[in-house]
Amino acid sequence: MCGIVGYIGNNDSKEILLKGLEKLEYRGYDSAGIAVANGEGVHVFKEKGRIAELRKAVDADVFAATGIGHTRWATHGVPSRENSHPHQSQSGRLTLVHNGVIENYDILKREYLQNVPFKSETDTEVIVQLVELFVNEGNTVEEAFRRTLSLLHGSYALALIDDKDPDTIYVAKNKSPLLVGLGKEFNVVASDAMAMLQVTNEYVELMDKEMVIVTKEKVTIKNLDGEIVDRGSYIAELDASDIEKGTYPHYMLKEIDEQPLVMRKIIQNYQGGEGALEIDSDIVAAMKQADRIYIIAAGTSYHAGLVGKQFIERMAKLPVEVHISSEFGYNMPLLSEKPLFIFISQSGETADSRQVLVQVKEMGHPALTITNVPGSTLSREADFTLLLHAGPEIAVASTKAYTAQLAVLAILAEVTAKSRGFDVEFDLVKELGIVASAMESLTDSKEAFEDIAREYLTVTRNCFFIGRGIDFYVGLEGALKLKEISYIQAEGFAGGELKHGTIALIEEGTPVIALATQDYVNLSIRGNVKEVAARGAYPCIISMKGLETDGDRFVLPEVHHLLTPLISVIPLQLISYYAALHRDCDVDKPRNLAKSVTVE
Ligand code: F6R
Repeated sequence: MCGIVGYIGNNDSKEILLKGLEKLEYRGYDSAGIAVANGEGVHVFKEKGRIAELRKAVDADVFAATGIGHTRWATHGVPSRENSHPHQSQSGRLTLVHNGVIENYDILKREYLQNVPFKSETDTEVIVQLVELFVNEGNTVEEAFRRTLSLLHGSYALALIDDKDPDTIYVAKNKSPLLVGLGKEFNVVASDAMAMLQVTNEYVELMDKEMVIVTKEKVTIKNLDGEIVDRGSYIAELDASDIEKGTYPHYMLKEIDEQPLVMRKIIQNYQGGEGALEIDSDIVAAMKQADRIYIIAAGTSYHAGLVGKQFIERMAKLPVEVHISSEFGYNMPLLSEKPLFIFISQSGETADSRQVLVQVKEMGHPALTITNVPGSTLSREADFTLLLHAGPEIAVASTKAYTAQLAVLAILAEVTAKSRGFDVEFDLVKELGIVASAMESLTDSKEAFEDIAREYLTVTRNCFFIGRGIDFYVGLEGALKLKEISYIQAEGFAGGELKHGTIALIEEGTPVIALATQDYVNLSIRGNVKEVAARGAYPCIISMKGLETDGDRFVLPEVHHLLTPLISVIPLQLISYYAALHRDCDVDKPRNLAKSVTVE
C-alpha cells in the first residue's frame, strides 16, 4: 500500500527511482510519480495507472541526482493525476511524497491554510503547504518540517525536497514503514529494502516520530526535539533473485511452487541439534505462563490463526481466541488474567494489527509476532518474534506465507505442548516432511486444477466453498483467494450452516467446492454436498486419500489429519490462480488491493 523511494548521489536519479517503484508495485497502487531536483528546478512527473505509464511521461533529457518517488493507493480522493504524488507547495519550492493517513488534515487546513488554493483532494497536500507556510514565517526547511510534524495526527512516511537545496532529502516517519539505505557517495530512502536492493543492501531503521536529513554523504537522524539519534545500520539479508519472477509468468505461481521448499526451510530453522523442534526459551516460558492465547490478525493471516487455534488447543491444551485485528480495538473481549497475544502478519506492517499491539503493550501484556519480515514494525514492537522463513512474498494474494504460518503455529503448539507436559502423539518433523512431499505432488498436478478452474469458474458469477471443522477454515481462505484475484464473488461456509440461510443462494450450476479431509465429518460434509446438488449446484469435492468416494474431483495425498490445511489449501490457491488467468485478471496485482495494508 503506497510506496516511497528516494535517491541522492551523483548519478541520474530517474531510472533508480523508477526501478525502485517497480519493486514496490507488489504493494498495490493506482498511480505513481517522481520528482527530481538538479538546482535548475524540480521536475515532477506523475500519472494515473501503472509505472509503465509514468515511464512514458518522464522526460529522459532531464538529469537530476536527487529525487523522490511514490506509488499511491488512493485514500483521500480518487485515483487521478491531480491526486497522485508528489505534491508541491503553492510556490512550487517544496515537493513531497507521503504514505499513510493524516487524520487531522481538515482541521489543519481550516486553522492554518484558509488562503491557500489546493490542487488535490489529498491529506498530503496539507503537509507540504504547512511546511511552506512555516518557511515563509522565517524558519529553515528543517525547522518548518519539524514544526509541521509536531502538528500531524495519524500515520506518515514522508520524503521532502527543496528546490533551493537539491542536496538534501528530508524524511520522517510515524507508524508507516520507512528505511534509509546507505551507499558510497549516495544514500537512498525506501518503504521496503527490496525497492533499493538494486543499489544497496545496507539500511538504517527509522523509529516513529523521527526525522532524517539525508545528503549524499551523510544521514542524520533526529527526534522531534531536534536532538541527534545514533543508530547503526544492518544488512538486509535479501537475495535480489528472491524478488525476481525468473521464468514464471506470475509471482503468485512462483510462490505457490515454493511452498515445499519453505516447509523444508522452516523445519531446518526450527530444528535443534538433537533433531527436536525448538523455539526461543523466552517464548516457551511466555506460552507456559499464559492462561489464554489471543491471536490477532487480518485476512489470510486471520485464517491461519483459526487453524492455529486448533493446533494449540489440541496439542498444548491451552485455550485460544482468534480475533480480526480491525475489530479488536473497540470490541475487546474480557481478557483472562494472564493473556499472551500472538500477532500473525506476513508483512509485519498491517496497521490494523499494529494498533492492537500498541494497545496491548499499553495494558502491559506480553506479545509475540509471527511474521515473514524480520525487523518489521510488528516484530520490533512485540516482545518476541517467530519468523516464517518463507522468503519475500510479492504477489498480493498470500500463498506461501499462509502455509508457513500454519507450519510455525504447529511448531509453536508442539513445543508448548511438550513444555506443558503433554505428549504429542506424532512426530511433527516427520509429518511436516510428509507435508512438503505432498505439496510437491500437488504443485506437480497443476493441469488438474487448471481443468477445474476452466470447468467450474470460467463463466460463473459466484462460487461457494464448504467444509466442516478445519476444512471450513481452509474454505474461508480458498474463497478469499478466489475473490481477490478473479473477482468472482466467493464465500466460505461451514457445511452445517448452509441450510440456515445460504442455501437460498444456490442456483442451477452454482459451483460449490467442498473439502472432505476429516474422517469425523466426512459423511456430514458429503450430506451437505447432496443438499446443494439437489438444488442445482455443481459440486467439486476435494477429499483426502482414504476418505474418497466415487465422483470426487481430486484426491489429496494423505498427511496427518491435523495438518491437512497445509495441503488442502494448495488446490484452492491453484484453482484461484487459473480462474483469474482465464478471466484475464491481473493475477499479481488485483484491483483495489494492497500487499502491505499500512492504513487502519
Ligand atoms: C490475502 C492477503 C491479505 C493479508 C492481510 C494481512 O491474500 O494477502 O488478506 O493476509 O492484509 O496482511 P499481513 O499478513 O501482512 O498482516
